[in-house]
Amino acid sequence: MCGIVGYIGWQKAQDVVMNGLEKLEYRGYDSSGIATIFNGQLKLSKYKGRLSVLSKHLEEDPHQGHVGIGHTRWATHGQPSDVNSHPHINESNSVAVIHNGIIENYRELKKELIDEGYIFKSQTDTEVVVHMIDKYLKTSVDILSAVNMAVSRLRGAYALGIISKADPDKIIAVRKESPLIVGIGDGENFFASDIPAILEYTREIYYVDNDETAVISKDDIIFYDKDKNIIKKDKFTITWDMDAATKGGYPHFMLKEINEQPKAVADTILRRIDENNNLILDDIRIDDTQIQNINDIYIVACGTAYNAGLIGKYVIENIANIRVRVDIASEFRYNKQFINDKTLVILVSQSGETADTLAAQKLAKAKGCRILSITNVVGSSVARNSDDVFYTLAGPEIAVASTKAYTTMLAAFYMIGIELAKLKREISINEYHKIVELLKKLPQKVEETLKTEEKCIEIAEKIKNAKSAFYIGRGLDDSVGKEGALKLKEISYIYTESFAAGELKHGTIALIEENTPVIAVLTQDKLLEKTISNIQEVKARGAYTIIITDKDSNDIANYADDIVVVPKVYDLFSSILAVIPAQFIAYHTSIKKGNDVDKPRNLAKSVTVE
Ligand code: AGP
Repeated sequence: MCGIVGYIGWQKAQDVVMNGLEKLEYRGYDSSGIATIFNGQLKLSKYKGRLSVLSKHLEEDPHQGHVGIGHTRWATHGQPSDVNSHPHINESNSVAVIHNGIIENYRELKKELIDEGYIFKSQTDTEVVVHMIDKYLKTSVDILSAVNMAVSRLRGAYALGIISKADPDKIIAVRKESPLIVGIGDGENFFASDIPAILEYTREIYYVDNDETAVISKDDIIFYDKDKNIIKKDKFTITWDMDAATKGGYPHFMLKEINEQPKAVADTILRRIDENNNLILDDIRIDDTQIQNINDIYIVACGTAYNAGLIGKYVIENIANIRVRVDIASEFRYNKQFINDKTLVILVSQSGETADTLAAQKLAKAKGCRILSITNVVGSSVARNSDDVFYTLAGPEIAVASTKAYTTMLAAFYMIGIELAKLKREISINEYHKIVELLKKLPQKVEETLKTEEKCIEIAEKIKNAKSAFYIGRGLDDSVGKEGALKLKEISYIYTESFAAGELKHGTIALIEENTPVIAVLTQDKLLEKTISNIQEVKARGAYTIIITDKDSNDIANYADDIVVVPKVYDLFSSILAVIPAQFIAYHTSIKKGNDVDKPRNLAKSVTVE
């Protein structure tokens, strides 16, 4: 997904902007560019391809300016190409614009501008912004007024960065729906779409909210609200450091993040338990009466967060006895919703900036639902617009393939489920304390599960040439399989599907041939025999069968070609361990195939377009 960075101050803008863009590479992109102003001239360099392509050109023809903006583009309108790359400039080469998001009404604006004589060079939606600013500059007193006029014409999502020869000592940054932060320096200031881009220079930041504009000069930052009034904003201090956002000795972010799970799960769980085994969920302020008022719960999310929601549903339904529905965020708006002020909507999003999830949030709010979000990013859009926020404390997740965010989301659901069960009096206080005691042991069990890596490397070797693969399981294990399948396909590019084990025989079993890998997740005691029968069905048809289980391997040795054993925990918590071998299998298969594990093809870390 696109990344943006801007700089104004005493350093060379090219150095800071390029450094920032490198830190955003993990978001996924297909082209990049930079624009600076120096001695009254606006200079532009932009190219299709990796940042190294842009760097090479900058070595030959460097930028000297101390004010600049830069962009990594992930194509939405128009193919990846030099001309479609950002920044975009106006015809007189006096204004440059970078943009994250999508301008929904760009076609009508483009037509209007073409009718007025503007010539478009690119196929992007963004180019309308720069021409619109140019148009209003002709009648405005300054660049800020022109930007305001132009922005008032836009519909959609945008984080914009604008520089202009008319006012070379300022950068203007505007936000609607796309993430934007402003970093505070000494004799220099920054803006970016994401914190790692500027963390090397400052920890003091402002989160820009929807419809706000920042006018950034080297010694000053002024914020305006949507009515153009100057506003005062609170600063945030970033507590995590660059080390947490870099590989720290591991060959890939994904492997680092898999190995960080014991700590991430411990951070998420342990500080929320007091010495008497009570959960301290002080961010969730739903009281006793409100809980009794809740008829049902909707969990809404995308991708891995959705898969975590499937586990959340099982946990909450089984322990708290509340009906839960899980919806894919991009479908939520278009489905028939049975939501009202008696519905609790739980939004799950690692980044807190996923466009589909934000759109679902808007709708749920409009319908009067109480919104509880589970997110990993403090101050993110999802968090700021929720009634209650449960922060997973996984630290920055950089690899596109989500790992520690998923396990900490499960930890969040376990805690929410247990607390709801207590509040709804579905479990006695005694049971409550016993389950919390079991929860406290989970980080240690996650640590022990990391020992499964060796076995997973062997399995990766055996499946690396497979054309397709399958995960099967029942109940919670089926949901773990969904996440295992997503991991394997997104980074190994092996077509992988996950099925409820009993459903295979209704069609999918036709796809099983000699050596097709079938990975069965087997942790639920009550479903053990049934799933074992389904494993036998695929084994009889030549499948290479692997079982991920917490059972004694001697008891099931005859049922599979390979077995990965994870520690035994309380049945309801088993998924947080069973998923770890699935992560390792995906990671090592991808490595063995020579893929770019952290930046898989066609994918972006944070999907900020609908
Ligand atoms: C999973 O590995 C992916 N990175 C993707 O499915 C991701 O979980 C999804 O895009 C949702 O992101 P979010 O949690 O930041 O909202």
